[in-house]
Amino acid sequence: MNASTPPPAQNQASTATLYGGVTNRRVTVRDLAAAKQRGERWSMLTAYDALTAGVFDEAGIPVLLVGDSAGNCHLGYETTVPVTMDQMVMLSAAVVRGTKRAMIVADLPFGSYQESPAQAMHNAARLMKEAGVGAVKLEGGERSARSIELLVEAGVPVMAHIGLTPQSVHALGGYPVQGRGDEAAHQLLRDAKAVQQAGAFSVVLEAVPAELAAQVTEQLAIPTVGIGGGPDTDAQVLVWTDMAGMTAGRVPKFVKQYADLRTVLGDAARAYAQDVRTGAFPAAEHSFH
Ligand code: KIV
Repeated sequence: MNASTPPPAQNQASTATLYGGVTNRRVTVRDLAAAKQRGERWSMLTAYDALTAGVFDEAGIPVLLVGDSAGNCHLGYETTVPVTMDQMVMLSAAVVRGTKRAMIVADLPFGSYQESPAQAMHNAARLMKEAGVGAVKLEGGERSARSIELLVEAGVPVMAHIGLTPQSVHALGGYPVQGRGDEAAHQLLRDAKAVQQAGAFSVVLEAVPAELAAQVTEQLAIPTVGIGGGPDTDAQVLVWTDMAGMTAGRVPKFVKQYADLRTVLGDAARAYAQDVRTGAFPAAEHSFH
Protein backbone atom coordinates (compact mmCIF):
# COMPACT_ATOMS: atom_id res chain seq x y z
CA MET A 1 0.00 0.00 0.00
CA ASN A 2 1.54 3.35 -0.94
CA ALA A 3 0.96 6.64 0.88
CA SER A 4 -1.91 7.67 -1.39
CA THR A 5 -3.85 4.40 -1.03
CA PRO A 6 -6.59 4.64 1.58
CA PRO A 7 -6.51 1.88 4.22
CA PRO A 8 -8.74 -1.08 3.27
CA ALA A 9 -11.43 -0.23 5.83
CA GLN A 10 -12.18 3.05 4.01
CA ASN A 11 -11.77 1.58 0.58
CA GLN A 12 -14.49 -1.02 0.85
CA ALA A 13 -18.19 -1.07 1.42
CA SER A 14 -18.91 -2.97 4.61
CA THR A 15 -20.28 -6.45 4.02
CA ALA A 16 -21.53 -6.55 7.62
CA THR A 17 -24.81 -4.91 8.58
CA LEU A 18 -24.92 -1.12 9.01
CA TYR A 19 -25.89 -1.67 12.65
CA GLY A 20 -22.78 -2.80 14.46
CA GLY A 21 -20.87 -3.56 11.29
CA VAL A 22 -19.16 -0.23 10.67
CA THR A 23 -17.56 0.82 13.91
CA ASN A 24 -14.09 2.18 13.12
CA ARG A 25 -14.91 4.68 10.39
CA ARG A 26 -17.84 6.74 9.11
CA VAL A 27 -20.66 5.17 7.11
CA THR A 28 -20.23 5.90 3.38
CA VAL A 29 -22.44 6.03 0.32
CA ARG A 30 -21.09 2.61 -0.63
CA ASP A 31 -22.29 1.12 2.66
CA LEU A 32 -25.77 2.49 1.96
CA ALA A 33 -25.75 1.11 -1.60
CA ALA A 34 -24.67 -2.29 -0.22
CA ALA A 35 -27.48 -2.14 2.36
CA LYS A 36 -30.03 -1.68 -0.45
CA GLN A 37 -28.56 -4.72 -2.23
CA ARG A 38 -28.92 -6.79 0.95
CA GLY A 39 -32.41 -5.45 1.61
CA GLU A 40 -31.28 -4.02 4.97
CA ARG A 41 -33.42 -1.13 6.19
CA TRP A 42 -31.80 1.75 8.04
CA SER A 43 -32.78 4.80 10.02
CA MET A 44 -31.85 8.45 9.82
CA LEU A 45 -32.53 11.13 12.44
CA THR A 46 -32.04 14.85 12.32
CA ALA A 47 -29.50 16.43 14.70
CA TYR A 48 -28.59 20.07 15.25
CA ASP A 49 -25.99 20.02 18.03
CA ALA A 50 -22.98 18.01 19.16
CA LEU A 51 -24.42 16.44 22.33
CA THR A 52 -27.64 15.11 20.82
CA ALA A 53 -25.79 13.94 17.71
CA GLY A 54 -23.34 12.07 19.97
CA VAL A 55 -26.22 10.23 21.65
CA PHE A 56 -27.63 9.13 18.28
CA ASP A 57 -24.16 8.17 17.03
CA GLU A 58 -23.60 5.98 20.09
CA ALA A 59 -27.06 4.45 19.53
CA GLY A 60 -25.84 3.34 16.09
CA ILE A 61 -27.99 5.56 13.87
CA PRO A 62 -26.01 5.27 10.61
CA VAL A 63 -26.98 8.59 8.99
CA LEU A 64 -27.64 11.92 10.73
CA LEU A 65 -29.24 14.80 8.87
CA VAL A 66 -28.51 18.39 9.84
CA GLY A 67 -31.86 19.34 8.39
CA ASP A 68 -32.98 22.87 7.73
CA SER A 69 -35.84 21.74 9.99
CA ALA A 70 -33.40 23.34 12.46
CA GLY A 71 -35.40 26.44 11.51
CA ASN A 72 -38.56 25.22 13.27
CA CYS A 73 -37.01 22.69 15.68
CA HIS A 74 -33.92 24.47 16.99
CA LEU A 75 -33.84 28.14 16.01
CA GLY A 76 -37.44 29.13 16.76
CA TYR A 77 -38.61 30.11 13.25
CA GLU A 78 -42.03 29.13 11.92
CA THR A 79 -40.67 27.48 8.77
CA THR A 80 -37.37 26.37 7.24
CA VAL A 81 -37.32 29.36 4.87
CA PRO A 82 -35.28 31.83 7.00
CA VAL A 83 -32.41 29.40 7.67
CA THR A 84 -29.09 30.72 6.32
CA MET A 85 -25.92 29.08 5.07
CA ASP A 86 -23.95 30.47 8.02
CA GLN A 87 -26.40 28.83 10.42
CA MET A 88 -26.21 25.51 8.55
CA VAL A 89 -22.41 25.59 8.60
CA MET A 90 -22.34 26.27 12.34
CA LEU A 91 -24.88 23.55 13.23
CA SER A 92 -23.32 21.01 10.84
CA ALA A 93 -19.82 21.56 12.22
CA ALA A 94 -21.16 20.89 15.75
CA VAL A 95 -22.82 17.65 14.62
CA VAL A 96 -19.64 16.50 12.87
CA ARG A 97 -17.59 17.27 16.01
CA GLY A 98 -20.01 15.33 18.20
CA THR A 99 -19.92 12.11 16.16
CA LYS A 100 -17.47 9.46 14.99
CA ARG A 101 -19.36 6.93 12.96
CA ALA A 102 -22.52 8.29 11.33
CA MET A 103 -22.55 9.77 7.84
CA ILE A 104 -23.44 13.44 8.30
CA VAL A 105 -25.70 14.92 5.64
CA ALA A 106 -26.41 18.67 5.69
CA ASP A 107 -29.29 20.49 4.02
CA LEU A 108 -28.65 23.26 1.55
CA PRO A 109 -31.13 25.84 2.87
CA PHE A 110 -33.66 27.85 0.86
CA GLY A 111 -31.97 30.31 -1.49
CA SER A 112 -28.56 28.62 -1.33
CA TYR A 113 -28.82 26.51 -4.52
CA GLN A 114 -31.87 27.43 -6.62
CA GLU A 115 -30.16 30.21 -8.63
CA SER A 116 -27.73 27.98 -10.50
CA PRO A 117 -25.62 24.82 -10.31
CA ALA A 118 -22.63 27.11 -9.62
CA GLN A 119 -24.38 28.55 -6.56
CA ALA A 120 -25.20 25.01 -5.38
CA MET A 121 -21.55 24.00 -5.78
CA HIS A 122 -20.28 27.06 -3.93
CA ASN A 123 -22.50 26.36 -0.91
CA ALA A 124 -22.05 22.57 -0.93
CA ALA A 125 -18.30 23.20 -0.83
CA ARG A 126 -18.78 25.43 2.24
CA LEU A 127 -20.63 22.63 4.06
CA MET A 128 -17.93 20.12 3.19
CA LYS A 129 -14.88 22.34 3.82
CA GLU A 130 -16.04 24.48 6.77
CA ALA A 131 -18.30 21.97 8.55
CA GLY A 132 -16.80 18.67 7.39
CA VAL A 133 -20.04 16.95 6.35
CA GLY A 134 -19.97 13.86 4.15
CA ALA A 135 -22.93 14.73 1.92
CA VAL A 136 -25.51 17.42 1.19
CA LYS A 137 -29.25 17.29 0.63
CA LEU A 138 -31.31 19.55 -1.58
CA GLU A 139 -34.97 19.73 -2.51
CA GLY A 140 -36.47 19.20 -5.96
CA GLY A 141 -36.61 16.49 -8.62
CA GLU A 142 -36.34 17.37 -12.31
CA ARG A 143 -35.90 21.04 -11.40
CA SER A 144 -32.75 20.31 -9.38
CA ALA A 145 -31.23 17.66 -11.66
CA ARG A 146 -28.63 19.94 -13.29
CA SER A 147 -27.32 21.06 -9.90
CA ILE A 148 -27.16 17.48 -8.63
CA GLU A 149 -25.22 16.48 -11.74
CA LEU A 150 -22.62 19.22 -11.23
CA LEU A 151 -22.21 18.46 -7.52
CA VAL A 152 -21.79 14.74 -8.15
CA GLU A 153 -19.28 15.37 -10.94
CA ALA A 154 -17.33 17.53 -8.48
CA GLY A 155 -17.28 14.74 -5.88
CA VAL A 156 -20.13 15.85 -3.61
CA PRO A 157 -22.45 13.03 -2.52
CA VAL A 158 -26.04 14.29 -2.92
CA MET A 159 -29.20 13.13 -1.19
CA ALA A 160 -32.23 14.41 -3.10
CA HIS A 161 -35.59 15.30 -1.52
CA ILE A 162 -38.88 15.05 -3.43
CA GLY A 163 -42.60 14.82 -2.68
CA LEU A 164 -43.39 17.43 -0.06
CA THR A 165 -40.55 19.95 -0.14
CA PRO A 166 -40.92 22.17 2.96
CA GLN A 167 -38.86 25.04 1.49
CA SER A 168 -41.83 25.55 -0.90
CA VAL A 169 -44.29 25.93 1.98
CA HIS A 170 -45.49 29.34 0.79
CA ALA A 171 -46.01 28.18 -2.81
CA LEU A 172 -47.77 25.00 -1.64
CA GLY A 173 -49.93 26.87 0.87
CA GLY A 174 -48.92 24.53 3.70
CA TYR A 175 -47.68 20.96 3.92
CA PRO A 176 -50.13 18.89 1.83
CA VAL A 177 -49.57 15.23 0.92
CA GLN A 178 -47.99 15.01 -2.56
CA GLY A 179 -48.34 12.51 -5.41
CA ARG A 180 -52.07 11.92 -5.13
CA GLY A 181 -53.79 11.34 -8.48
CA ASP A 182 -52.33 9.97 -11.71
CA GLU A 183 -50.56 13.09 -12.97
CA ALA A 184 -48.95 13.88 -9.60
CA ALA A 185 -47.88 10.24 -9.18
CA HIS A 186 -46.28 10.23 -12.65
CA GLN A 187 -44.47 13.48 -11.85
CA LEU A 188 -43.11 11.97 -8.62
CA LEU A 189 -41.80 8.96 -10.55
CA ARG A 190 -40.20 11.29 -13.13
CA ASP A 191 -38.61 13.31 -10.31
CA ALA A 192 -37.26 10.17 -8.65
CA LYS A 193 -35.75 8.90 -11.88
CA ALA A 194 -34.30 12.32 -12.71
CA VAL A 195 -32.39 12.58 -9.42
CA GLN A 196 -31.13 9.02 -9.72
CA GLN A 197 -30.01 9.71 -13.30
CA ALA A 198 -28.28 12.89 -12.13
CA GLY A 199 -26.22 10.83 -9.66
CA ALA A 200 -27.93 11.28 -6.28
CA PHE A 201 -26.93 8.46 -3.90
CA SER A 202 -30.36 8.39 -2.22
CA VAL A 203 -33.63 10.26 -2.20
CA VAL A 204 -35.99 11.38 0.55
CA LEU A 205 -39.69 10.86 -0.21
CA GLU A 206 -41.75 13.13 2.05
CA ALA A 207 -45.53 12.88 2.58
CA VAL A 208 -46.48 10.67 -0.35
CA PRO A 209 -48.97 7.79 -0.44
CA ALA A 210 -47.40 4.54 0.82
CA GLU A 211 -48.26 2.66 -2.39
CA LEU A 212 -46.49 5.27 -4.52
CA ALA A 213 -43.42 5.31 -2.25
CA ALA A 214 -43.28 1.50 -2.56
CA GLN A 215 -43.45 1.78 -6.36
CA VAL A 216 -40.64 4.38 -6.46
CA THR A 217 -38.53 2.23 -4.11
CA GLU A 218 -38.98 -0.78 -6.35
CA GLN A 219 -38.07 1.13 -9.50
CA LEU A 220 -34.95 2.88 -8.14
CA ALA A 221 -31.52 1.36 -7.64
CA ILE A 222 -30.62 4.02 -5.02
CA PRO A 223 -32.05 3.87 -1.47
CA THR A 224 -35.27 5.75 -0.76
CA VAL A 225 -35.68 7.40 2.65
CA GLY A 226 -39.29 7.84 3.70
CA ILE A 227 -40.86 10.41 5.99
CA GLY A 228 -44.60 9.97 5.73
CA GLY A 229 -44.01 7.51 2.87
CA GLY A 230 -45.28 4.33 4.53
CA PRO A 231 -43.41 1.15 5.45
CA ASP A 232 -41.83 0.08 2.15
CA THR A 233 -39.03 2.62 1.60
CA ASP A 234 -35.44 1.42 2.09
CA ALA A 235 -34.88 3.76 5.04
CA GLN A 236 -36.86 6.04 7.35
CA VAL A 237 -36.11 9.51 8.68
CA LEU A 238 -37.72 11.43 11.54
CA VAL A 239 -37.06 14.86 12.97
CA TRP A 240 -35.48 14.06 16.35
CA THR A 241 -37.55 16.51 18.37
CA ASP A 242 -40.73 14.85 17.04
CA MET A 243 -39.37 11.33 17.61
CA ALA A 244 -38.34 12.07 21.21
CA GLY A 245 -41.36 14.14 22.25
CA MET A 246 -39.61 17.53 22.51
CA THR A 247 -41.83 19.28 19.96
CA ALA A 248 -44.52 21.51 21.46
CA GLY A 249 -48.06 20.97 20.17
CA ARG A 250 -49.24 18.75 17.32
CA VAL A 251 -46.85 16.59 15.33
CA PRO A 252 -47.57 15.23 11.83
CA LYS A 253 -49.53 11.96 11.46
CA PHE A 254 -46.41 10.13 10.23
CA VAL A 255 -44.50 10.67 13.49
CA LYS A 256 -44.12 7.96 16.10
CA GLN A 257 -43.08 9.39 19.46
CA TYR A 258 -40.54 7.15 21.24
CA ALA A 259 -40.06 9.26 24.38
CA ASP A 260 -41.62 12.20 26.22
CA LEU A 261 -38.57 14.42 26.71
CA ARG A 262 -40.63 17.58 27.00
CA THR A 263 -42.30 16.24 30.14
CA VAL A 264 -39.05 14.77 31.51
CA LEU A 265 -37.15 18.06 31.08
CA GLY A 266 -40.04 20.19 32.31
CA ASP A 267 -40.35 18.03 35.46
CA ALA A 268 -36.59 18.25 36.03
CA ALA A 269 -36.65 22.06 35.68
CA ARG A 270 -39.63 22.36 38.07
CA ALA A 271 -37.97 20.07 40.67
CA TYR A 272 -34.73 22.09 40.47
CA ALA A 273 -36.57 25.40 40.89
CA GLN A 274 -38.49 24.00 43.85
CA ASP A 275 -35.26 22.78 45.51
CA VAL A 276 -33.70 26.22 45.09
CA ARG A 277 -36.80 27.87 46.58
CA THR A 278 -36.83 25.55 49.61
CA GLY A 279 -33.05 25.53 50.10
CA ALA A 280 -32.80 21.76 49.40
CA PHE A 281 -30.27 22.55 46.69
CA PRO A 282 -27.34 22.94 46.95
CA ALA A 283 -26.83 20.40 49.76
CA ALA A 284 -23.58 19.68 51.60
CA GLU A 285 -22.39 17.27 48.88
CA HIS A 286 -22.65 20.02 46.25
CA SER A 287 -20.60 22.54 48.27
CA PHE A 288 -16.86 23.19 48.58
CA HIS A 289 -15.20 23.85 51.95
O1 KIV B 1 -34.96 19.32 7.22
C1 KIV B 1 -35.30 18.16 7.52
O2 KIV B 1 -35.32 17.76 8.69
C2 KIV B 1 -35.68 17.28 6.44
C3 KIV B 1 -36.32 15.98 6.82
C4 KIV B 1 -37.73 16.22 7.17
C5 KIV B 1 -36.16 14.96 5.76
O3 KIV B 1 -35.53 17.61 5.31
